[in-house]
Amino acid sequence: MWRPPERIPYTPSPGRWPSAAEAAASRLFSPVRIGVLTLRQRTWVPAMVPWRGSADGFVTEDVLDWYERFARGRPGAIVVEATGIRDIPSGPLLRIGHDRFLPGLRELARVVREASEGETRLLIQIIDFLTIRRRPDPLRYFREFLAITPRHRHAYGRQDAPEADIRAWLASRPREQICKILDRRELESLDYGYRERVTDTHLEPILALPSQLPALFADAARRARECGFDGVELHYAHAYTMASFLSQRNERADDYGGEAPNRARLPLEVFAQVRKTVGDDYVVGCRFLAEECIDGGSTLDDATYFAGAFARAGMDFLSLSRGGKFDDARQPKVGEAAYPYTGRSGYECMPSYYSDARGPFGRNLEATARIRAALRGQQLSTPIVAAGGIHSFEQAEALLAQDKADIAGLARQALADPDWFTKVARGRGDEVRLCLYTNYCEVLDQRHRQVTCELWDRERLDEPGVKRSTDGKRRLTPPLWEPAHSHAQSIPSPSDRHP
Ligand SMILES: Cc1cc2nc3c(=O)[nH]c(=O)nc-3n(C[C@H](O)[C@H](O)[C@H](O)COP(=O)(O)O)c2cc1C
Ligand code: SF4
Repeated sequence: MWRPPERIPYTPSPGRWPSAAEAAASRLFSPVRIGVLTLRQRTWVPAMVPWRGSADGFVTEDVLDWYERFARGRPGAIVVEATGIRDIPSGPLLRIGHDRFLPGLRELARVVREASEGETRLLIQIIDFLTIRRRPDPLRYFREFLAITPRHRHAYGRQDAPEADIRAWLASRPREQICKILDRRELESLDYGYRERVTDTHLEPILALPSQLPALFADAARRARECGFDGVELHYAHAYTMASFLSQRNERADDYGGEAPNRARLPLEVFAQVRKTVGDDYVVGCRFLAEECIDGGSTLDDATYFAGAFARAGMDFLSLSRGGKFDDARQPKVGEAAYPYTGRSGYECMPSYYSDARGPFGRNLEATARIRAALRGQQLSTPIVAAGGIHSFEQAEALLAQDKADIAGLARQALADPDWFTKVARGRGDEVRLCLYTNYCEVLDQRHRQVTCELWDRERLDEPGVKRSTDGKRRLTPPLWEPAHSHAQSIPSPSDRHP
């Protein structure tokens, strides 16, 4: 993963934890309304893919165990991981693109309701993504994947030459010559693997995205409602289809690219169809980027414009993330696919403890606060969810007190300790297992391996009933919290342990 060159090490600083009475009187543990729902407290576990679904996208026992464990900590809301809206194979990512996925998802909603005794609201993040292929072996690329065009024939010197000869010739050329013969996209496909873009309007399915996505998202939202989820989060963030429409890099020549109103058109049309399908009495919001953090990408001004448009359209909440783009991702190894959290924008999305002068804690807060202030200035009261390095009560309470956001999202901190919410509410904050922001979990995500946290995945492995990862080395969920026997956690120094 990319790290800021300054490499200043940071450790989480929880400050003073509140007593139970202080927590009860705090803003953080006060209710907040999002659309027709009331969250008991202003805490939120943002979507995190744990790679627990079946190979064909169904909810498994491991998925149920994962969310049950989070629900036991009783945050205000949990957002289930990015779940695919299409009925196409997408590995072990959860899917909601067909009614056959409903029984598993229904069970997931039931398990969370039961484990939290109805205290935690459950939303599901619904996503569309475009094709991305693994970086090819160069010989195979020239032999099979590259589409031979007149330009390649011209470089070869004979327009009527057999394709096989041109392919063999290209495969034997030195790199510097290849860089001159291939165009930018062909070279990218060779070096990084083929990746579709929303601007590839010469491809019929890409051209047709605006006519197809509203119904796909709406069907997915209908299924979410039928399964008992309390709401849906439209995934308009990071490297995926809808974020790519919002991006300043979206130069589609039709009504869906170019100026910001055009770029917001499809996200608004998707929302309109979702709303029409699920009705006004159901929570629908979105996650999008406060800043894309890539050259030529969308800025805070764009995000402020989008926030106003989404709020006026009637979204029930706006959750702000940052970065996480393919555009600056690290080159993958041959046989692997590019991963959008490996470049600078990836760092901005999931900052680790090696940082720059701004540090990893609350990196998205100033941008979030400015977007919220702009909304409030237009008399738009849509609740705003903040995330990024939030781990302490003081930090969360301050961002609410300073009107930077309405809800505090804790992703990796909740993964490090899903009982954070219960512990802090009960005045037992000193028993919180603090996230060290090592990004061990994120490396697992990148490798599509079952996500765990290094702070607990080797603990009490011999406990009866402990389920282990496929490599047999790690437990899949954290041990249960035993308040009577637990000890205050001292902050260990971050390790560079890798999964
Ligand atoms: C393992 C892992 C998986 C993630 N999966 C998603 C996802 O499915 N959707 C999403 O919007 N963000 C995803 N994220 C990003 C988090 O929701 C969050 O924005 C990010 O980790 C920063 O917040 P934090 O500092 O509280 O962890 C993921 C993060 C991690 C660590
Ligand atoms: S592995 Fe654990 S400690 Fe490290 S970043 Fe992830 S949640 Fe935090």
